[in-house]
Amino acid sequence: MPRRTIFEPFRIKSVEPIKFTTRQERERALEAAGYNVFRLHAEDVLIDLLTDSGTGAMSSQQWGALMQGDESYAGSRSFYRFRDVVQALTGYAHVIPTHQGRAAERILFHTQVRAGQVVANNNHFDTTRANIEAEGAEARDLVIPEGRVPSALHPFKGNIDLGALERLLDEDRAGGGTLVPLVMVTITNNSGGGQPVSLENLRGVRRLCDRYRKPFFLDACRFAENAYFVKLREEGQGHRTPADIAREAFRLADGCTMSAKKDGLANIGGFLAMNNAEWADAARNLLILTEGFPTYGGLAGYDLEAIARGLEEVVEEPYLKYRVRSTAYLAEKLTAAGVPIIQPPGGHAIYLDARALLPHIAPLQYPGIALANALYLEGGVRGVEIGTVMFGCHPDGSEVPPAMDLVRLAIPRRVYTQSHIDYVAEVVLTVAAARSALSGYRVVSAPRVLRHFTAVFAPAAAVAST
Ligand code: F0G
Repeated sequence: MPRRTIFEPFRIKSVEPIKFTTRQERERALEAAGYNVFRLHAEDVLIDLLTDSGTGAMSSQQWGALMQGDESYAGSRSFYRFRDVVQALTGYAHVIPTHQGRAAERILFHTQVRAGQVVANNNHFDTTRANIEAEGAEARDLVIPEGRVPSALHPFKGNIDLGALERLLDEDRAGGGTLVPLVMVTITNNSGGGQPVSLENLRGVRRLCDRYRKPFFLDACRFAENAYFVKLREEGQGHRTPADIAREAFRLADGCTMSAKKDGLANIGGFLAMNNAEWADAARNLLILTEGFPTYGGLAGYDLEAIARGLEEVVEEPYLKYRVRSTAYLAEKLTAAGVPIIQPPGGHAIYLDARALLPHIAPLQYPGIALANALYLEGGVRGVEIGTVMFGCHPDGSEVPPAMDLVRLAIPRRVYTQSHIDYVAEVVLTVAAARSALSGYRVVSAPRVLRHFTAVFAPAAAVAST
């Protein structure tokens, strides 16, 4: 008889102690951090759900692979192992290692995107958007309407709106075909709630890109989680392995940017891969200028080994089953208690709907910051605002709240056990029960670009009441 309990498909070989703190200590730490959890010392965090990026635990096989690292400057054996694994997975002819995902983005956009152009995506991640805007181009989000509504149910809320994409490509054609340099789709759609994209949708993008002769790139950070959702949810895909589904997804596109800090199961690294030899040459030339020689791209040989092994492990079904299930487990606990989250839960994270939970805090007083800070004070849990602070500031200096104010609780891969997650649920429920006592924040200082990382806030209560 099949067992009901799904347990972590690994044993723990090495542990790292967690430092316990009191609420008073956390109050002091948060104030010293300018009420921005990015500025906390990680040591002062009990359960760190800031990101699933680079925070995973490596397997004993990956640690073993580190010793195989070949640190030759040029032509390292580790590069060829890495390249072979990436090619077997993606099928792309050119594989360019980078120190992380955003370096791949910068190189791709700096070599191929010009001021005034428009890059389409389901939802651009913050660094992706910033790298496009840094070129003077526009990053346009074209996720399907359901992907913009937290409570809307759809198995593939990350899908791109093919009608909207076609209209954009029509506009491009009418204007001579220079408006859109490339089309991207992010799998899974991080900024939209970690939602998957169906193979059918990717096939639709492929058809449009063929018709309008546009290159199609995947932002593939969480390609394995996406493949597993396709297996679970897409008609006719249930019999396939996640690896097989992932291979098809990559082959529907012409290239990808990738952060190996997510579904590479590594602590650092990434790559840019593509079929176009001319684009790859331009990318390698810029790579040498800023990252390093094309066979290491800013990484150590041992990093390339860890990523190569990680890319093999991440598509294993027991791992993906545990991964998706443990995120859903947290979602179920929160939903049962009436806490509003993006439904259905994504692969790597739970997204709390801060705007719905804290309707008394105006978007420009940052309900996401209020909630993230409350979770930290209550239980030392660190999440991240994905809302007005992250996306509300525009290149022209205006501040407009985006469609949602969320707090993401991202689950590091293979790091926390079920009891850690039980604790997180308890903290969220305690904060939700006392939500009317929370108040908003104002910005004291912030840089113009990517302000969420370093902004300093202050409680807005004093201002609001005067
Ligand atoms: N694309 C997506 C969809 C991402 O989620 C990230 C990173 C990147 C690109 C950039 O990759 O960090 O290796 O440079 N997301 C992390 C997060 C930081 O917390 O979601 P990177």
